[in-house]
Amino acid sequence: MINISTICTLCLVAAVCCGEACSSCPVLECWFVQEKTGRGGGLAAATTLEKSLLHIQTDPHPAESQQAPPDIHPDRVYLITDPAGTLCHRSLNPPRGSVEKPQCEINPFLPQPSTLKWASPLTDSAFSPIYLQADWFSTALQGLNGQLAVSTITRAPTATKEHRVVLSVTTTTVSVQSRLGGPVLLDCGLWADPSSPLSGSGFAVEWRYQFRGDGRLVLAYDGKTDRLADVQEEGATLDYEGLHQRGNASLILREAKVRHSGLYICTVYLPYLVAQVTMELQVVEPPSLSIHPSPLPLAVPGQSFTVQCEASGFAPLALELSWEFKGTDGKSRPLGSGSLTGHRQAWDGTYSQSTRLELDSAELDLGRGGEVTCVAVHLGGTRRASVTLNVIGFSSPSIEDSMAMVGVALVLYGLIKFVSWTVTSSGNKGRRQNATLR
Ligand SMILES: *[C@@H]1O[C@H](CO)[C@@H](O)[C@H](O)[C@H]1NC(C)=O
Repeated sequence: MINISTICTLCLVAAVCCGEACSSCPVLECWFVQEKTGRGGGLAAATTLEKSLLHIQTDPHPAESQQAPPDIHPDRVYLITDPAGTLCHRSLNPPRGSVEKPQCEINPFLPQPSTLKWASPLTDSAFSPIYLQADWFSTALQGLNGQLAVSTITRAPTATKEHRVVLSVTTTTVSVQSRLGGPVLLDCGLWADPSSPLSGSGFAVEWRYQFRGDGRLVLAYDGKTDRLADVQEEGATLDYEGLHQRGNASLILREAKVRHSGLYICTVYLPYLVAQVTMELQVVEPPSLSIHPSPLPLAVPGQSFTVQCEASGFAPLALELSWEFKGTDGKSRPLGSGSLTGHRQAWDGTYSQSTRLELDSAELDLGRGGEVTCVAVHLGGTRRASVTLNVIGFSSPSIEDSMAMVGVALVLYGLIKFVSWTVTSSGNKGRRQNATLR
């Protein structure tokens, strides 16, 4: 029987553990990056990099006197209150002593009205600019294993180091792979501190696409009119209900196309504030394979012939084509990559590529034949296609072949015997008739 004191001990242990684990908000090491304008109006704007430490909490407790590590200046130790708890995500809080660390960068931020068409109306309503006169920081964080990216705007009363998150933008789809034609969800969540005077007058969302320096607008949501201000990508939408009720600004693409691969930037505007997260979408489609000719013609030892394999409908472009041969002994061996053609791009953006293999049945020691396989290794998966190769008249026949040959020989022998008998007997008859006539 468990006695009461044991239970109490367990409770105590649980409470102590919980005290540590439940408030599992991290202490984040962060690079404090600041641009310093050159002295005396100099031209060069140098960037300074300093180590800093962010103590995260969800409830506003007064700062305890925190001991700064020797390599961090006490001025660069901050206390950040994040009522939404976004910064307490486990991917930002690795177990103590782990080698991998979340990435963090913090910058001074200057609140200013946006000039963008769908964000500028947000600043129409006037409010006390005193609120803006404070220390503002912008922080960008990347959790472990690409689980999370967060960007926050925090505010601290001037010259204090106690910040509070006013706006945070998050994504859990830092890197997404999607099959061609399927729907795609690019996650973006926003949170605005309801106690901030900036959060009452709406927000705007902008999704942009970027690929190799080429950028374009995907869609823009104007919070003032509560409408999509601009949609430049067919089939791109937001979930309005989720946007209003849960700050879910996720982008939905109805049908993934090859040209959708690239970087997506979700930018959220509050009056005077802006924060954004970036994510990568890769549309991945494995190839379909076909072999010509199929079936292969019967081969005679010493005869050479060509077999071709075409991989089509794949994206991205990177593909490895090769050939394999599996003999009747069940052993596989590589036959190399053959001669590859250049790639072609189809109307839907997918690629195709072929390889041609010269097979010399004698030289390659193909025996009595087997299976010729085309192998395509692609990001979307490995694909294989095979044809059977039959080599006839091979020099060392198997037992079945010998038996068959004996059978054929016997039949042939019988046939010859029969034919010669018929011929002889009819010849004799003719001679006899001639004799009678004479
Ligand atoms: C956001 O909305 C999309 C589309 O309705 C949904 O699939 C997704 O699960 C939502 N995300 C969250 C975190 O609620």
